[in-house]
Amino acid sequence: MTTGLLRLAKTVVNKLTRPLFARTPHAVDDCPLTHGTTQQLWQDLIARGESPATITPHLLQLERESPDFGRYQALRTLHARVAQPHQVNYLLAQEEFQRGAAEMTAYPTYVLMDISNICTVECKFCKYTHDFQDKRWLSLEEMQRFEWLQYALYLNFTAGTAEALSNPQFIPIFDYIYKKYPHLIFGLLTNGRTLSEKILNALEGRLHELHVSMNASNEQDYNEIIANGSWSLFARNMKHVQALARRTKKPWVQASFVKMRWNLDRAVADLEFAFEHGATKVLFHHFYPHYIQDLHSGDSRVLAEKFGPQQSLYFDKEKADDVFARVRERGKELGVDVETPPPFAGADTHITWGARTSTPPPSACAYPWTHMFMLWGWKSRREEITMCCGLASDTGIYFDWHEIMTKDGLFKTWNSPTMQAYRRTANGRRVNPVCALCRTIDRFDPHSIYPDQRKFFEFNDLPVPPHFKEGKWPSLTVIAVDGKEAA
Ligand SMILES: C[S@@+](CC[C@H](N)C(=O)[O-])C[C@H]1O[C@@H](n2cnc3c(N)ncnc32)[C@H](O)[C@@H]1O
Ligand code: SF4
Repeated sequence: MTTGLLRLAKTVVNKLTRPLFARTPHAVDDCPLTHGTTQQLWQDLIARGESPATITPHLLQLERESPDFGRYQALRTLHARVAQPHQVNYLLAQEEFQRGAAEMTAYPTYVLMDISNICTVECKFCKYTHDFQDKRWLSLEEMQRFEWLQYALYLNFTAGTAEALSNPQFIPIFDYIYKKYPHLIFGLLTNGRTLSEKILNALEGRLHELHVSMNASNEQDYNEIIANGSWSLFARNMKHVQALARRTKKPWVQASFVKMRWNLDRAVADLEFAFEHGATKVLFHHFYPHYIQDLHSGDSRVLAEKFGPQQSLYFDKEKADDVFARVRERGKELGVDVETPPPFAGADTHITWGARTSTPPPSACAYPWTHMFMLWGWKSRREEITMCCGLASDTGIYFDWHEIMTKDGLFKTWNSPTMQAYRRTANGRRVNPVCALCRTIDRFDPHSIYPDQRKFFEFNDLPVPPHFKEGKWPSLTVIAVDGKEAA
């Protein structure tokens, strides 16, 4: 489940870039440029934290070279010239989004990369099982081959496949990336099982946000929810997180819990545990049952080991509303930021990226222009990118690690026919069936329809990726674009 990841990337970047806007040190009067376009770009880049010394000479050169250029052309020229291109790249990606470009010249702004497809535990609410994929992690030597991370603004070492800390070279990789790309905003999402003191020392003062998927606050719940885990290791590591949070604000700590009917009663205790161990923000999520049922539909042994849809809080709405209200209240008392799903009763809700939200979705979705998740596809069992953690999944945009590490290889994947089709049909008058559902259905509702991803490819006249087999959804209601049940 990667919804948390998107939220994480957005929260961290907003948190870290907002102060830049607030304390713009250079007034417009300081701007030495004369052309309206370059003046605006200068202001936008300064507001994003660029120093005048690095951008003014390039913008002056642009004015000298051509008296007649637009913002897009100016950004593209700057993109090719500036030594530290991440802020220019950010503005270029935004410009290409505004223009609805299908083919990008900007690199992804937010990169979420699984550096391992192995997990250290098997949560019973998660699709992950050992031995489903051929085990693979990226080595330091491979990470050193990346040619384009200087363009990104944000890097998370997790994209949703498994657990980054299972990578035996995590510390040298983090050291290397941190030193080579000091401009990057770093995020890490982890289950905490191997978040040892040694790892925390390597992260201290360098990582921006540490998100621990705690999911339990006592040994009994932990053993109930997590197969092959170790409460004693987890609890010891959480003590180290507590000590870290007491001595530094970098990283700031966020915690999350997946709530089901059987563990709902412990939500307030979970919040207190997370707060006590240093979390400044605590998220409570609904259990998403559909993907497990779909992915493992042919394997009754796995399904028996995982929680089923009956554990959803959608079967106990009144109690969920009551408990989450108490959690929010307790959060206020403790002075910790708490996020729960919006109440079922009474509240005005909207659908944003396939989930109920209390605020309306943006008028257009920018993710296909800005985000790239590099993961191991669960249905394809191959490396695949996706562009969001809304309803688009198992995209079939396969890649080869060694190829995508190069600039040409990146654009081959980032501008693949499927990515371009998403950019053409994510917004506007002719929205593809998957993006349309992303704005209308609540995926956490066990009764809600389960999107048939094949419809995206049919809609766009693209070949359906081979991992979507006919009749793959025996136990789920798959709804076609016309709203009727698919065969
Ligand atoms: C797939 S994990 C990968 C990263 C890491 N192993 C971890 O657990 O944080 C990403 C997040 O999705 C959550 N998650 C996994 N399966 C879920 C489900 N079926 N419903 C809701 N959240 C889920 C996890 O608790 C975790 O916060
Ligand atoms: S720790 Fe994360 S990836 Fe591993 S099984 Fe649990 S939720 Fe899934």
